[in-house]
Parts: sequence; structure tokens; C-alpha cells
Amino acid sequence: MKKFPLSCEINGKKIKKEIDSSLRLIDFIREDMGLKGTKEGCGEGECGACMVLLDGKAVNSCLMMAVQIHGKKLVTIEGIHEHKYGKELQDSFVKEAAVQCGFCTPGFIIAAQEILAKNPKASLEEIKEGLAGNLCRCTGYENIFKAVDKARKK
Ligand code: FES
Ligand code: FES
Repeated sequence: MKKFPLSCEINGKKIKKEIDSSLRLIDFIREDMGLKGTKEGCGEGECGACMVLLDGKAVNSCLMMAVQIHGKKLVTIEGIHEHKYGKELQDSFVKEAAVQCGFCTPGFIIAAQEILAKNPKASLEEIKEGLAGNLCRCTGYENIFKAVDKARKK
């Protein structure tokens, strides 16, 4: 197995680690880093459960290799509260009953963080459009959209 000397920042901490160059990003996050908040649903880029922020952009970690974060800043759900909107989004999801089984929640919060950071005045329609790549089997979506809108207004 080919090794790669990975150097990056994860949730504000500098990381240097020799990794297998064929490791998927989601496996690196969950298994090597122990950050289990990032979930694997479909494993094919369809559900958004595995989303993380890479240099501020929401990406599906099931579709990337760990070597692709070399030199970059990664934020997972465990570090989102340190960013503007992160804490508000987490509180708002709970208050608005936007969490049921919770499997999709980290991905939604990561996607919502990107939307609000890019456009603090995002309309409800823009929020809905921005979250189109995230699937939830439980909530029916309305409470999720409402939670993001409330967090934006705080
Ligand atoms: S697990 Fe990555 S998009 Fe579904
Ligand atoms: S809360 Fe269960 S999948 Fe969304």
C-alpha cells in the first residue's frame, strides 16, 4: 500500500499523519480521526449524510480521497460550533424538531453552514435549493428548512 504524508487542519488543529493513499476521506475522518459525527449513508454522493466543509465548501466525503485534503482546512460537525451560525444551527435544529433519528443532521448542518456563510440573507427558497443534495427520511423537510431560516435570523 502506498503511503502519503498528509498535512492538514481539522477542526482548527494541525494534523500530520502518514496515511494509505487509497483511503477514502470518510474513512479517514471516522476511523483514523475518530470523528463519528460524519455519517455514511449511500456512499455514492446521493444523500449528503457524509458532508464536511473543505476550505468552507460543503463536500461529500464519501466521494473524495483523504489525500485531497492535503494543505486544506477541514471542518466536521464536531467543530462546527466554532463557526458563525454553527451553534445557532445546532440549537435551532433541536428547537424546531428538525432532528428525529439524527442520521442526516450533521450533513444538513454542514450544508446549511455553507449556505448561510456565503449568503447571510438567503431566502427560504434559496435555503431549500441549497439543501437539495441532502436527504432525510424522517422529518418531511419543513422543520429543517424552518430551523435553518431561524438560525439565519438570530
Ligand atoms: S454517504 Fe456520501 S453522499 Fe451519501
Ligand atoms: S432525521 Fe432521520 S434521516 Fe433525517
